[in-house]
Amino acid sequence: VHRRTVLQAAAGTGFFLALSPGFLLTGCDGGVRATESVTLGLDSEEYDVELALRATPDSVSILPGTPSEVWRYKAELLKGPKNTLTENTNSYLGPTIRLRRGQRVKIHIHNELPEDTTVHWHGLHVPSDVDGQPRLPIQPGETMTVGFDVWDRAGLFWYHSHAHGERGGRVGFQSYAGLAGLLIVEDDEEAGLGLPSGDNELLLVLQDRTFAGANELVYLDGGMGAMMDRMHGFLGDRILVNSVPPATRKVATRPYRIRVLNGSNARIYKLAWSDGRPVTVIGADGGLLPEPEDRPYATLAPAQRLDIWLDLSQSQPGSTLELISDSFQAGMMGGMGMMGSNALPLGSRFTLVGLEVAESLEVNEQLPAQLGQQRQRILVGSNTRIRTFELRPVMMRGFAINGRRFEGPHVADDEKVRLGDTEIWEFRNNTPMPHPMHIHGLQFNIVGRRGGNSDSLQQGLVDSGWHDTVLVMPRETVQLAMKFERFAGLFIYHCHNMEHEDAGMMRYFQVQG
Ligand code: C2O
Ligand code: CU
Ligand code: CU
Repeated sequence: VHRRTVLQAAAGTGFFLALSPGFLLTGCDGGVRATESVTLGLDSEEYDVELALRATPDSVSILPGTPSEVWRYKAELLKGPKNTLTENTNSYLGPTIRLRRGQRVKIHIHNELPEDTTVHWHGLHVPSDVDGQPRLPIQPGETMTVGFDVWDRAGLFWYHSHAHGERGGRVGFQSYAGLAGLLIVEDDEEAGLGLPSGDNELLLVLQDRTFAGANELVYLDGGMGAMMDRMHGFLGDRILVNSVPPATRKVATRPYRIRVLNGSNARIYKLAWSDGRPVTVIGADGGLLPEPEDRPYATLAPAQRLDIWLDLSQSQPGSTLELISDSFQAGMMGGMGMMGSNALPLGSRFTLVGLEVAESLEVNEQLPAQLGQQRQRILVGSNTRIRTFELRPVMMRGFAINGRRFEGPHVADDEKVRLGDTEIWEFRNNTPMPHPMHIHGLQFNIVGRRGGNSDSLQQGLVDSGWHDTVLVMPRETVQLAMKFERFAGLFIYHCHNMEHEDAGMMRYFQVQG
């Protein structure tokens, strides 16, 4: 018998369900209105790719035994190259969407959930109205069609819910329930490098989850511990990689390209190899770095992506190498777990993937010393305008940015920028916690950091190249160079610790044309 617990709660009660020990997801019966539709973005007739994307309740096997109720994306390719969609079967993750730079894309988004949702194309430079912002919710039963040109250079992006209700954000809940997927942009420049592809390109989505007895997903508790839990954000009892528990896969003696998304609500990972070899980073949020960088470990905050080169050509057949998340201290929150749960504390050590060398191959693929022609870094100088954003705790209510919390598409005077301008945005973290700050609608360069009292993740921060999310360590100040190009309108900047974001650590800014 199919159990449909607790769930109408998911729709209406705003912040999570007040049941202990947690509660879970979904099962939506009826209540869906007749289809309405809205179209935003380009109105040309000519599209290279057309997709239908549904946000829908489903049931998938995550752990052995009973399948878990989830909310997930399902998609259908209506027009375009066959490899545009790769279904992730037996996963709550949405299909991997592969686009090419220059394509004109049209996506029909159907909301089959019992509450409002949106779909945000994280990291892509798209017009304000198709960015999936909370001001343009898709109601239950409604279809929204969005169109955009793929303007970004090659890189690993992702799509996820960005809903925000009357009583608070729903991003944490909806993404946790499964509403996320990978989006890859390819271009000629990257293709020209001949990096490992197909079976030799591993895509890893790192997330943590908590399950109750019959494999129900458990999100934040409404009880006593909830306040503290929201301070550091959701931390699960176990790690999932591509929506299933960490596993070992067979590999060969050859190079691999490993592309990792931290799709967790709040967990930071310290990526390292079990044999102590350096982590060779070749790319970040906004695509390839100018050249490869060897690090003892690589820090990956929520929403960030890393592109890693791993050469196994010298490995012994029969040997196993593990990608782990190593232990670390993260300011005041280091070592802390969720109240009254078995959550893995932030900074604990665990295995993410095992790679068993099962096949000997003679492959002669070298890591290029230069990773292609690069997009020119944004030029800043002593006369570049600096805009300052101070992150501070708000008593019992999370965190504020310059003393303000989320208030919808309302923009203060110091949140208006001009189209075409280059600015430095300076984030000053006056809190004891790290915050992964994300800016919509562009990729930025990291100019520099100062202060900061945590050195246990510092050597893994990849600050070269292009980014849309930067980890600002406790008491640290970070400067970003950004240029507001191409699209005027409202965009968002926020902390991508989803519980911080949902509790109001998010603001709109306006690009004035
Ligand atoms: Cu992943 Cu506002 O974004
Ligand atoms: Cu985003
Ligand atoms: Cu935060």
